[in-house]
Amino acid sequence: MRGLLTGQEGELCLSLEKTTTWGRDDMGRLDRCYNIADLREVARRRLPKGVFQYLDLGTEDLVALRNNRQVLDEIKLLNKVLVDVSTIDTTTQIFGKPSSLPMAIAPTGIAGMTWYEGELALAKAAAAAGVPFTLATGSNTSMEKIADEAGGRLWFQLYMWREKQLSYEVVKRAYRAGYEALIWTVDIGLGANREHNKRNGYHQPYKLNMKSALDMVAHPEWMMSVMARYMANGGLPKHVNYPPQYQQSVTGAVSQAKALRADQVSFDDIDRLRDIWPGKLIIKGIMRPDDAQKCVERGVDGIVVSNHGGRNMDSAPATLDVLPGIVQAVGHKTTVIVDSGVRRGSDLVKCLALGAKFALTGRATLYGVGAGGQAGGEKALAILTDELRRTMSYVGCAQTNEITDDMIWKK
Ligand SMILES: Cc1cc2nc3c(=O)[nH]c(=O)nc-3n(C[C@H](O)[C@H](O)[C@H](O)COP(=O)(O)O)c2cc1C
Repeated sequence: MRGLLTGQEGELCLSLEKTTTWGRDDMGRLDRCYNIADLREVARRRLPKGVFQYLDLGTEDLVALRNNRQVLDEIKLLNKVLVDVSTIDTTTQIFGKPSSLPMAIAPTGIAGMTWYEGELALAKAAAAAGVPFTLATGSNTSMEKIADEAGGRLWFQLYMWREKQLSYEVVKRAYRAGYEALIWTVDIGLGANREHNKRNGYHQPYKLNMKSALDMVAHPEWMMSVMARYMANGGLPKHVNYPPQYQQSVTGAVSQAKALRADQVSFDDIDRLRDIWPGKLIIKGIMRPDDAQKCVERGVDGIVVSNHGGRNMDSAPATLDVLPGIVQAVGHKTTVIVDSGVRRGSDLVKCLALGAKFALTGRATLYGVGAGGQAGGEKALAILTDELRRTMSYVGCAQTNEITDDMIWKK
């Protein structure tokens, strides 16, 4: 992996026209996907195990990952009958503009490793579906290219470096490129202990071991359609949205850049971001009402109740368990968003019923891209839309603003 992911110019020069067997036209596999779990399975087979586990798993014993799902599964919705649901409207207003669904795409740094320019594929899918897309700091496609080519509503996610000035430059760059909202992710601590990544050789700095080399070789379609395309188009994937001094590689320089992610931050930093970011400002990774309150005091436009999809602290509670307390504390003062565990349209109903204005999806839409690029992302969003509509019909809601907590069954 060290050789493969150095970001240096690759020597491989291949005609890729005939090597990509998973293009937009290859709808067969996607047609046989009836839910997000099916897309996950297609992605699992297509991707090297290390890439897939990086995408799919959580941290340490995977307790938080499983618990997010368990809590969502345990929330039961009550049918409401004999209501006219002949016309179901899944749209909502997100920060004063229409969205076709009460959801946006969460920032996920790995889309570009599952598909060539996977972030662009996912951003285009989001634009086609009419939902906002968030580009992660750690993505492999430049924010300018996404802004030029994707269309739709674009948000940018920030990790703060210890050299904060470097982060501010990235933020200004996002503003110049036309991004509408800035999501500052604050729940990273000293970094996650994802043991599977270490085993697979996908912990940073990346190291190619025999296992990960064989893993890649065993997935020639991915090698040719993703890695070889990057190499043929200027080199292996880079963190092109990092500050220039950290962009060179995803080996040594990335680990250095990661180490420099700020561990010396405070709520005052929200003020600094406010000074340079005139757009919507959202803080992601809030799990406590008092932290939510402090964000509100700094005038943020929104907070994301998130445990990072169970990827960071394995002892974190499920977001759906802490959501009601946070909504009670600040829901009338700011936009409360939630993520971590959404895999079904019914999950979106549960998030809204518990007080979130809308939800973010991380893996659900990423599985789609991993299964089939833009078409796969569109498929994931179509599945969620269909499931949302059906669930709304069962709980007797023709519009998303009719979703309330009285439809949740209380023992
Ligand atoms: C593969 C992967 C990469 C992620 N990368 C980032 C990231 O770069 N920045 C960030 O704020 N969150 C990141 N997240 C967390 C997501 O934004 C989101 O909080 C989480 O995926 C929600 O849980 P879900 O995957 O169950 O929907 C990542 C999640 C995944 C699955």
